[in-house]
Amino acid sequence: MIAVFRSLRRNALLLRKTPEETSSYHRSRVLFELQRRANQLLTKFNPFDNETRLERLVGPAGIWPHLQQYQFNALTRLGLKPHHSVIDIGCGPLTVGVALIPYLDRGKYTGVDLLPEPLEAAHRRIAQRGLAYKNPTIVCSTTFGKRELAGRTFDFIWTSQLSYHLDDLQLVLLFEQARAMMHSSSVLLIDVIDPAIMSETHKTWRGFSYHFRAVELYEELAQDFSLSVQRRGRLADYGYPDKIDLSRNTLLEFRKVDAPPLQPELNETAGDDNRAAARRDSVLAV
Ligand SMILES: C[S@@+](CC[C@H](N)C(=O)[O-])C[C@H]1O[C@@H](n2cnc3c(N)ncnc32)[C@H](O)[C@@H]1O
Repeated sequence: MIAVFRSLRRNALLLRKTPEETSSYHRSRVLFELQRRANQLLTKFNPFDNETRLERLVGPAGIWPHLQQYQFNALTRLGLKPHHSVIDIGCGPLTVGVALIPYLDRGKYTGVDLLPEPLEAAHRRIAQRGLAYKNPTIVCSTTFGKRELAGRTFDFIWTSQLSYHLDDLQLVLLFEQARAMMHSSSVLLIDVIDPAIMSETHKTWRGFSYHFRAVELYEELAQDFSLSVQRRGRLADYGYPDKIDLSRNTLLEFRKVDAPPLQPELNETAGDDNRAAARRDSVLAV
């Protein structure tokens, strides 16, 4: 009973018009939210939809294709090409993995997660979509792959919707392991929560706490690990639905200090760029 009351109160707070909102923006936000909840309900009770139900493993519900789209857009706009290798830390049931695996060359995708449940779903999705021939690597790890992927480096290290579920010690361990997996021109991308949206609506998610940190703290951490950091805009800039508060989160790019740009593929030509564009178009979800 108390839980229902709390949930009603939380929703009422969420849908309240804020002083900064115009009436028409507020109306469209309420409509978006109702549509999102309706999608969520339809998914819950649709016995034929096994796929979309996986969104409960990643949250927020009702916008699953947009989450995939945001992540794919961000990576490809920030330079990901099919010949690059990617490690997706906290990959869940392959939100973006199912788009990345067909886009990347064989063997270039690695997903790591702490929990077996999303990884079981990940394996099922790879099989259902006939993606096994791409040789993706899926790893269950409590150390961000330290033991399982010892000695391996990646061109892109992608960590989405995870940083704010890590406590301070885990965050340092993430940076330590990410640094170990970087070669001279690797790119580490982490989306971080905007503390301005910290509110009682964000307490825990599937047992994981929230840890709100200012971007400046990530900048200090970068210095400790001899990494440079650049703010790469808000998630909304890459297609995250702007009516969800998490769309205001910031995407941070870390590189080794004085890193050279990522090497283009040997003999990369306009033809290779066209190949990347064609592959990108063929896997776009929304
Ligand atoms: C909110 S979900 C995001 C999943 C996916 N990155 C996405 O954006 O759709 C967070 C994921 O991180 C995983 N996770 C949490 N703590 C982790 C850790 N210490 N190491 C690796 N994965 C972790 C969870 O199991 C979950 O699958």
